[in-house]
Amino acid sequence: MSSITAAITAVGAYVPDYKLTNSILETMVDTTDEWITTRTGIKERRILKDEGKGTSYLAIKAAEDLLRKRNLDPAEIDLVLVGTATPDMPVASTAVYVAAEIGAVNAFAYDMQAACSNFLYGMSSAARYIESGRYKKVLLIGADKMSSIIDYKDRTTCIIFGDGAGAVLFEPSEEGYGLQDEYLRSDGKGREFLKIEAGGSILPASEETVRDKKHFVYQDGKSVFKFAVSNMADVAAKIMERNNLDHDDVNWLVPHQANKRIIDATANRMGLEHSKVMMNIEQYGNTTSATLPLLLHDYEKQLKKGDKLVFAAFGGGFTWGAIYLTWAYDS
Ligand code: UT7
Repeated sequence: MSSITAAITAVGAYVPDYKLTNSILETMVDTTDEWITTRTGIKERRILKDEGKGTSYLAIKAAEDLLRKRNLDPAEIDLVLVGTATPDMPVASTAVYVAAEIGAVNAFAYDMQAACSNFLYGMSSAARYIESGRYKKVLLIGADKMSSIIDYKDRTTCIIFGDGAGAVLFEPSEEGYGLQDEYLRSDGKGREFLKIEAGGSILPASEETVRDKKHFVYQDGKSVFKFAVSNMADVAAKIMERNNLDHDDVNWLVPHQANKRIIDATANRMGLEHSKVMMNIEQYGNTTSATLPLLLHDYEKQLKKGDKLVFAAFGGGFTWGAIYLTWAYDS
């Protein structure tokens, strides 16, 4: 294990202005505010309405927020990673465009795709680059324009997802703060439960795929829920056990925001009180790659140097895992 630790040293975020509320959804599909709230915990989501703007728009805004807050010269960034399930286009990489637009002229850049675990896996990748000693500043962005792949006539998916982006900077820590341990898992047998069937190499776009709505997210919600609820809790418990953390030691759970019931189950399994659980699903819904950095952004002011954070996520693929990280700065 490297002696260099990789710490998060800055956070930025962006969500579009437009709020798609439960009451608006009631006018679009056969649903109710009561059903959505009790089954998911979501009240509203943000949607990027502007035509011609894609995920890079959200990612650039989040990165610019971070650069401004940290007063950082983008030319100092070595690497830009973008986790996204909704790249601007299948080719070329969204991250490469984002890097150019924010002025990260000395960086290389690429996208990562592991659905709702994008940011969690991205933290692992970003940390490895820093721990190698070769790179000093890695910008990790989680961004998704989920509204571009959602059928707003399908009540089983359109109530869940929203658009947004968050960014963090990873740098070497001289004090040993940052990523301490990770437990990352995947199981390809899960891909039938949560997918977009067409538009890839198995089923390229055609008149039929468009007609049959195969370019939208399909989710067997009940099955995904079952896997998510047990696996997210399992990995969170495992990372605590492996690092001799009990519920008093953990300051914050940073859980993927897919469903409040999944988050509650994970927190219960960890023995954590409600006040230690970061949650903003009510305002943003599930923003896929952006949920974890949006939480860090919303709770940044409450975080203290040395705080022990457990991140946990579960997503399509299936992909899931947990990360134990210590916070490196007081806001
Ligand atoms: O982030 C990636 C990972 N994704 C997840 O973790 C999502 C996991 N899944 C879930 O969060 C939940 O399964 C959902 C929120 C998607 C659905 O909640 P559920 O409690 O599992 O509902 P269900 O799918 O079992 O459906 C229950 C009933 C069904 O009616 P019947 O068959 O019992 O008559 C559905 O047709 O609720 C119906 N229903 C709705 N009713 C009102 C489904 N969607 C809606 C809706 N409004 N929007």
